[in-house]
Amino acid sequence: MPQSQSHARSSQHHASSRSRSESRRDSEQAREEVLGLLIEDHKRMKKVFRAFERMDRDARPDEAQALVRATCVALMIHASLEEEVFYPAARECIDEESLIEEAEVEHASARSLIEQLLQLDPQDPKYAASFTVLGEYTLHHIKEEEKEIFPQLSRTDMDWPALVQAMHERRQELLQQYRLAGEDTGQAQEDDEGDEEAAEAERQRDA
Ligand SMILES: [Fe+2]
Ligand SMILES: [Fe+2]
Repeated sequence: MPQSQSHARSSQHHASSRSRSESRRDSEQAREEVLGLLIEDHKRMKKVFRAFERMDRDARPDEAQALVRATCVALMIHASLEEEVFYPAARECIDEESLIEEAEVEHASARSLIEQLLQLDPQDPKYAASFTVLGEYTLHHIKEEEKEIFPQLSRTDMDWPALVQAMHERRQELLQQYRLAGEDTGQAQEDDEGDEEAAEAERQRDA
């Protein structure tokens, strides 16, 4: 959408008795919340892929398999949330719409890798290899979202308060849907051990 239309739509939207600065503050808070929610998911995923690389998978095959499955579910929930709610809103406002197209193509590749992976026997050497590759895809994708897509959105006036509500609602529905199907949604897969050390390694890698 051209910038001028997006401005017009946004100013109509907050036509209420509330002051402009209050609306601006709400919008800022909602923006932080939307991006914060996605970034929290990203952090959790990075941690899980690191934990998988570090773990003694031969000694703890069941644990490794549970971690793989829960991570795939968490990735699918995150991807659905972005595809159904976040990307459509972002596409309306972002300068470079091609970034959203690329992100969707990356999601499709990750989904097909997840599908293949979940059909493999966990003893198959391709099982761990597929998960490692999925981790590499995911890290690359997360970097593009955080470094290219999110900063462009910070400069636009999206309807962040409406978006934050839609994101929370859809997220709860998706979590519920997978939990009802008996899946671990990965929310309890936090691995606080070695956090500091991993964060330091990441800082050095990014530098
Ligand atoms: Fe994504
Ligand atoms: Fe994401």
